Amino acid sequence: MSREAIIIKSPDEIETMRRAGAVVAEVLEVLKGNVRPGATTLDLEKIAEEETIKRKASPAFKGYRGYPFCLCTSVNNEVVHGMPSKKVLKEGDIVSIDYGALVEGFYGDAAVTVPVGKVSEEAARLVRVTEESLGKAIEAAREGNRLLDISSAVQSHVEPQGFSVVREFVGHGIGRELHEPPQVPNFGIPGRGVKLKTGMVLAIEPMINSGGWAVKILADGWTAVTADGKLSAHFEHTVAITPDGPRVLTMI
Ligand code: CO
Repeated sequence: MSREAIIIKSPDEIETMRRAGAVVAEVLEVLKGNVRPGATTLDLEKIAEEETIKRKASPAFKGYRGYPFCLCTSVNNEVVHGMPSKKVLKEGDIVSIDYGALVEGFYGDAAVTVPVGKVSEEAARLVRVTEESLGKAIEAAREGNRLLDISSAVQSHVEPQGFSVVREFVGHGIGRELHEPPQVPNFGIPGRGVKLKTGMVLAIEPMINSGGWAVKILADGWTAVTADGKLSAHFEHTVAITPDGPRVLTMI
């Protein structure tokens, strides 16, 4: 794990990050309302681009290490970094939408997994438990705790449900860069890792598989899929650690 210094944000900087987070939340809300059978993930991308421009923000992912889109759209067995395409969403699919924005020099980053129409009980349970695990992780993001308390909050919630935690991808610090130290794994031993302090801002993003945790990367160089072909879900929020506890910045 990276031992580089974590950049502490001032209260003013956190207010700016809150504005970036609000844009992220608003755009994701619009996108959620456009997930339906028959829509393509490229339709969602176009909406994301328009909604970003409308808010005088910049997309965080487009151009990042050569990534060509505003969104990552990961369907069913795709874990993260799925690319928008002419692929048509159909009833029963689940689609993870990951979106980030740059506002006044600071980034916000969040993701949701959305059911397309009516989905199987197993898919619905995976989505619910993954979202719950993010809630537990956020609760652990407070001064006095250590970094891996966040990680273990995710792991200890999802594994008893028979689901597994992706190892190859982790959450991250966020601020003037999309990815800052520290790495925020979704598995780990409580009480370990750096002490959490006011002014740290973390993108916490559990990626949870219904089967095993192994993933592989497709030939496009981006799309991560489950090695066993089973479903995967992903939720993410940008969270500031404050004297009053965790503050979710990517909320409307
Ligand atoms: Co992220």
